[in-house]
Amino acid sequence: MRKNIVAGNWKMNKTLQEGIALATELNEALTSDKPNCEVIICTPFIHLASVTPIVDKGIIAVGAENCADKASGAYTGEVSASMVASTGAQYVILGHSERRAYYGETPEILKEKVLLALANGLTPIFCIGEVLEEREAGKQNEVVYNQLEGSLFGLSAEDFSKIVLAYEPVWAIGTGKTATAEQAQEIHAYIRSVIAKQFGKEVADNTSILYGGSCKPSNAKELFANPDVDGGLIGGAALSVADFKGIIDAFKA
Ligand code: 13P
Repeated sequence: MRKNIVAGNWKMNKTLQEGIALATELNEALTSDKPNCEVIICTPFIHLASVTPIVDKGIIAVGAENCADKASGAYTGEVSASMVASTGAQYVILGHSERRAYYGETPEILKEKVLLALANGLTPIFCIGEVLEEREAGKQNEVVYNQLEGSLFGLSAEDFSKIVLAYEPVWAIGTGKTATAEQAQEIHAYIRSVIAKQFGKEVADNTSILYGGSCKPSNAKELFANPDVDGGLIGGAALSVADFKGIIDAFKA
């Protein structure tokens, strides 16, 4: 059975001290009022080693926002998947639209990152999604298909089954403009059908597909109620415990 997940992506926010305070406050809130879904916080690299020991592992998992496409060596400034794993982190966001758009991450580079993450026991949260012009031209299915094909179709079904997907329409990220529940369900169902065709129905049924893009406490319940939306990847609202917990609580009756 696939899992319901609410994952926070802190992006490039919070100093180390602020990040520790945020993780501590979230941990307190969720230990006293336990979530009904898996909760993950993805933090900047430098926070990982400090945040993993202060959260209750049974309630909050920790992830990175990226990792290198090389295993080790002379790659100044890069952080490898094995380094991420050595902090106690269990997840890594890969293919975020900001990495694709601002740092030139191609499907081929992302393929390497996925393989290294899996080889080091990390679960990739692999992001896909179209820009506004592509949505307006009705090309969103084609775009997500190509993103999946370019980085993930080469995996075995066993390896693919270890991946979490996040559909994040770029036009909804940080814009306050959310996909409607119908738009989200439609493309999530399409993504699941692509997985079923490539890796089989059982793998598709067990893949968690998260929605991301201006997800808030006020719209999370409606989005997550869709049969093919298994939770969210949360940016801005993950920086406030009240907002993040409000989204997590969307999985409560
Ligand atoms: P916002 O929730 O701020 O729109 O960001 C979504 C996102 O990019 C998460 O990865």
